[in-house]
Amino acid sequence: MQSPDLITRRKLLALAGSYGASVAHDAYARRSIMPWQERRDLYPQGVASGDPYSDSVILWTRRPPTDGIGAKLLRFEIAENPTFSRVVANAEAHVSEETDWTCRVLAGGLKPARVYWYRFADDHGFGSRIGRTVTAPADQDRRPVKFAFVSCQNVQQGASVAYRRMIWEDKRSPPRDRLGFVLHLGDFVYEIVWYPEDRPQGMYARRLRDIVRYASGEKHRDFHVPTTVEDYRALYRAYLLDPDLQDARAYFPFVYMWDNHEFSWKGWQTQQNFGESRLPAQTRKVAACQAWFEYQPARAVRADTTEPDQYQAPRVANAAIHNFDESGLGLEPGNVAAIHSLKLYRTLRWGRNVDLVLTDNRSYRSEPLVDRPEFAPFRPKEFPQSFPANVMEILDAGRTFAGGHPPDTIDFGGTAHANPRKDAPALSMLGSQQKAWFLERLRASKAVWRLWGNSVAMLDWRADFHNLPGSFPKWPAPGYAIFTDDDWSGYRAERAEILNFVAKAGITGFVALAGDRHAFTAGLVSAALPPQQFTPVGVEFITGSISAPGLFEGLEYSLPRDHPMRPLFVYDPGQGLPVKPSMNLCMMHGVRASLALERTGDLHAAIAESNPEVAPHLSFVDVGGHGYTTVRASAKQLQVEFVCIPRPVENNNRDDGGPLAYRVTHRVNLWKSGSRPRVERIAPEGSLPLVLDYPPPTRT
Ligand SMILES: [Fe+2]
Repeated sequence: MQSPDLITRRKLLALAGSYGASVAHDAYARRSIMPWQERRDLYPQGVASGDPYSDSVILWTRRPPTDGIGAKLLRFEIAENPTFSRVVANAEAHVSEETDWTCRVLAGGLKPARVYWYRFADDHGFGSRIGRTVTAPADQDRRPVKFAFVSCQNVQQGASVAYRRMIWEDKRSPPRDRLGFVLHLGDFVYEIVWYPEDRPQGMYARRLRDIVRYASGEKHRDFHVPTTVEDYRALYRAYLLDPDLQDARAYFPFVYMWDNHEFSWKGWQTQQNFGESRLPAQTRKVAACQAWFEYQPARAVRADTTEPDQYQAPRVANAAIHNFDESGLGLEPGNVAAIHSLKLYRTLRWGRNVDLVLTDNRSYRSEPLVDRPEFAPFRPKEFPQSFPANVMEILDAGRTFAGGHPPDTIDFGGTAHANPRKDAPALSMLGSQQKAWFLERLRASKAVWRLWGNSVAMLDWRADFHNLPGSFPKWPAPGYAIFTDDDWSGYRAERAEILNFVAKAGITGFVALAGDRHAFTAGLVSAALPPQQFTPVGVEFITGSISAPGLFEGLEYSLPRDHPMRPLFVYDPGQGLPVKPSMNLCMMHGVRASLALERTGDLHAAIAESNPEVAPHLSFVDVGGHGYTTVRASAKQLQVEFVCIPRPVENNNRDDGGPLAYRVTHRVNLWKSGSRPRVERIAPEGSLPLVLDYPPPTRT
């Protein structure tokens, strides 16, 4: 009979093979015998750990040849203490040009809910920095789970000081309040790069750093995009030189899901779009997958696992897609091969309290609605960044609209347009296979909190432009304006399908954690909003960006001072005082509240004009905020804290990463099956920018 240890070891080997990692597993703690002399210069991208289970975690480093000192074999060890007198596992792993000198090790045989330290060394004894990681609690562990979630770091345009604060706060917290991991919801890199000479005026009021030059690359208008795996690798290498980001990767285990910019800005499946037309980019999707796999330690599964530690790039060509299945999947063979070459959607568990279900919202989605030629007649010309909700509803749902009764024509701007998607299937963000998996994971979860790592958000940001006074341009559609287009607000039928499934299955503790919007937002998710039935079935929290500019910053600099719509988005109090995001007010209370503020400068006068129909779903919106979000999940309650920092334009030398702008906590008590969730806001630290309450903050 085989020993349990041997069985565990075999299982671990099989797992490591599928993730593309070497394996480390050892039963007894002992003093380090590995020669190690720290040489951070030989490991320029540092170390990292990812996807912790209760007994294993993936560790990562990169050891390129430097100054003639090369290495083919790395040694690795993981210990129970930072002095490495209690090493619990070690391994050897190869590094080579094939993986851009990156290396992944799956360390197993670990104990649950423990802090570990790890390091690498080459055969000269030159060592990496020491990394720290944390395993997940055991499945039956009832203790609260705390973690952070982040998204959207643009190292070219800003500073990653939010990570500095996160580390600083964590080191000062009692052990029970320390973060178990950081969930990164994507835009880890931005593939669109402006070379400083192409844009000497910078980006808004920010300077552009010269971080990378693509060896191949391609220029679109004034920016550059990667075209080969070497280009994408260069981008990751450049990002990981950021000291705050590198320190965060060395200090916390991360759980990664990509968003769009890991591949391409308006990309979907293997196609890209830079604002003009659809361009086939199968080879770039493969290149993006390969670089992601090499640089992000995650339990992503490769389609082809014949090589132990490499991503096998499928042979594809950049070919137009002509045929699609019912869920919008392009049937061109290269498209199918590329998107199935690396599967990122997966679940992870932290004790009794947390199941984390991560979906890939970019690789399987149908082409986004507003980028399709058939949407062109429905763009409101005089309203920046605004889309008509009713048109989106009709076009997105296609032939399934109104229970299978789509209209023949759509009224827009006084003209009846033929409905171009009357016979088309509804759009899908997840694709049929992933959606079936996702719904089943939600249904089967036994955890208290079913947390959805949802890279793109569901909560509608909308405005009642139909209530604008007569002096404004006339809103061309009946109903609301929507401010976002390529997140769930553009895939409304599938969003409703998911939320109706949650309601029907009586699922509680359903909370989505989202990024992408570059804005802190909290609220209740419902399949529909007033004037239709508002029936919340879950909660969503959206984190502000680590550093990428948000909508408010964009409008602040790009909307002319005399633009009639400017007061709805940007409030200028005059007297040299900084502008404020009146967009927060507009989205939570309606256009008349923003206009009253502009007219009177008085917050009470503004709130008196609140339209309660606009946002019964929203508890909080700040489109100007940056930073990160923490979550504390206990058996009865979820506490979610937005940690907001001032616009992170430049690095600083402070240990805490700089001052706080504000910190605000929302509380969600676990609700009973069939009853409504509630989001409560607890008194904030610091002042909130035009986040005003009427009626008081508790929303039901
Ligand atoms: Fe982003």
